[in-house]
Amino acid sequence: MKAVYISKPGGPEVLEVREVQAPVAGPGEVLIDVVAAGLNRADVQQRKGFYPPPPGASEIPGLEVSGRIAGFGPGVTKAFSVGDKVVALLAGGGYAQQVAVPAGQVLRIPDGVDLVTAASLPEVAATVYSNLIMTAQLQPGETVLIHGATGGIGTMAIQLAKAIGARVATTSGNAEKVGTAKAFLGADIAINYAEEDFPASLRAQNGGKGADVILDVVGAKYLEQNIDALADYGRLVVIGLQGGAKAELDLGQLLRKRAAIIATALRPRPVAEKTVIMNAVRDAVWPMLTDGRIRPLVAKTFPLAQVAAAHTYFDSGDHVGKVLLVM
Ligand SMILES: NC(=O)c1ccc[n+]([C@@H]2O[C@H](COP(=O)([O-])OP(=O)(O)OC[C@H]3O[C@@H](n4cnc5c(N)ncnc54)[C@H](OP(=O)(O)O)[C@@H]3O)[C@@H](O)[C@H]2O)c1
Repeated sequence: MKAVYISKPGGPEVLEVREVQAPVAGPGEVLIDVVAAGLNRADVQQRKGFYPPPPGASEIPGLEVSGRIAGFGPGVTKAFSVGDKVVALLAGGGYAQQVAVPAGQVLRIPDGVDLVTAASLPEVAATVYSNLIMTAQLQPGETVLIHGATGGIGTMAIQLAKAIGARVATTSGNAEKVGTAKAFLGADIAINYAEEDFPASLRAQNGGKGADVILDVVGAKYLEQNIDALADYGRLVVIGLQGGAKAELDLGQLLRKRAAIIATALRPRPVAEKTVIMNAVRDAVWPMLTDGRIRPLVAKTFPLAQVAAAHTYFDSGDHVGKVLLVM
């Protein structure tokens, strides 16, 4: 089969499409003929040599795919048939024509979503649902601040939070993206972080109150401002470190607000935890996609042979929503 190989750490040019041995489904795994794969920031970090796959995972990049079931390893109890249209959450191996994955991380695609577009869903839906709802316990009527409005995570997080009845504030780096966040994605408050101090701007537009929950993809650079932006009993969930990993923490500020900081990564979680998350996504998020409360957003698709161009585009940051590779 054809798959993407990272020839050495570096820019998009190090991504090569090679002929490699097809995977074999092990115990409890299904084999998928991949139709499309979603790009994620983690793939870029892996390409640069900063984010090696967890032990036992494929060296081939790619954390999410859509496709058709091609076969089963021994002991699969989930009721799938060969040919079923599915999506899968992966620890790696998605930029390929076939992938083997534990059955618990595989779901039938939501009704009303086409098979290519469905590749945009598993990683972002699992990340956003597990962090906003399962971990931070975001409630209807609470205010959530979502950084990175127009990225893959941001576009899903804004829509999901609106769908559950939260008040949504978001940040973006330019006026055009701020406009998209409000007019197209439905954010209640959209802040241009390049021009405004986001904690002050949030409070000014939110009746003097901060955020009950913050979903953060920036990390160290935002730690102090994020704690400033939290309301009493606020929950800051850090899922990305695009602004670094190490910062000074004022515990007094946290203590006065009775606030919490939680940091999570989906990729290294055990299969059992990913299975629980995927089942919750199927039950809670799939109906929102089917009835249109959440629209999957695909910025652009590229054929597998143009994987380097796909990464160049993704690196530019111009995309709104997800970038996909089509096999
Ligand atoms: N922990 C997990 O389990 C998990 C799972 C999936 C993704 N993630 C993380 O989530 C983040 C987003 O992933 P993605 O796939 O959605 O990537 P993406 O589509 O490239 O989106 C990244 C977003 O982050 C914003 N951003 C980047 N650098 C920034 C900075 N220095 N300051 C402020 N905003 C910044 C960008 O907004 P502007 O263009 O407006 O600046 C952009 O909207 C990544 O860090 C990724 O590693 C974590």
